[in-house]
Amino acid sequence: MLAIIGGSGLTTLSNLDVSRREVVRTPYGEPSGALVFGQICGRPAMFLPRHGYGHTIPPHMVNYRANLWALHHHRATGVISVASVGGIRADLQPGDIVIPDQIIDYTWGRKATFFEGNGSPVTHVDFTEPYDRELRTRIQEAGAALGIEMKVGGVYAATQGPRLETAAEINRLERDGADLVGMTGMPEAVLARELGLPYAAISVVANHAAGRGDSANGIQFSSLEHVLHEAMGRVRSVIERLVGCQNGTPPMGMSV
Ligand code: HPA
Repeated sequence: MLAIIGGSGLTTLSNLDVSRREVVRTPYGEPSGALVFGQICGRPAMFLPRHGYGHTIPPHMVNYRANLWALHHHRATGVISVASVGGIRADLQPGDIVIPDQIIDYTWGRKATFFEGNGSPVTHVDFTEPYDRELRTRIQEAGAALGIEMKVGGVYAATQGPRLETAAEINRLERDGADLVGMTGMPEAVLARELGLPYAAISVVANHAAGRGDSANGIQFSSLEHVLHEAMGRVRSVIERLVGCQNGTPPMGMSV
């Protein structure tokens, strides 16, 4: 069953026909909220809002370990992470959807591994390709089938937050090779990898990054809310298609 972690702009999954909610206790504490189980056009799926149902958990306080552990425990077969980002690369405009293929991690002080404590052996997972290639292709194909434009590939810079970046920090991220910036991509991606869970991200550009484009003199999220809202509608359609919806009827023999 596919799991979807929703971020800012996607705190509920309106196309999910909810069958039950479950509060999951984990060895790492509480996940961001109850796991929601249901069906998207007849295909089973589960959903978790990263920032909680009231959008009260800031990026540096999200219990990423509990979230990923809970999804894995409930037999997720893959995780699609949806999150809003700032666009650094010149061609990225608010409302654009990007499927990143690389990450640079600038976060600090977050619990970023399951392999510590309780005599756990020192373990170094391979993270050369941080996002699952097959899942990325499936997202890409779902978008293509619907004629929804998505930018394929991009380097995601994970910053600590919750404050936004300075213009100089964005210049530095660009020099480092980053195309987009967000606050939640890590350690989520690596924790999924440690659990062997295929993980890919759908990033929605909410704003030009600090010092760029419309954000040359500051970032005004409020004026861009409608853009994010509309883009999340497209993301929902992509997710529907990805799980196998076709004109409302799932094809036979496809597993999610
Ligand atoms: N920076 C970091 N995280 C973000 C941004 C940004 O500009 N926009 C949305 N999430």
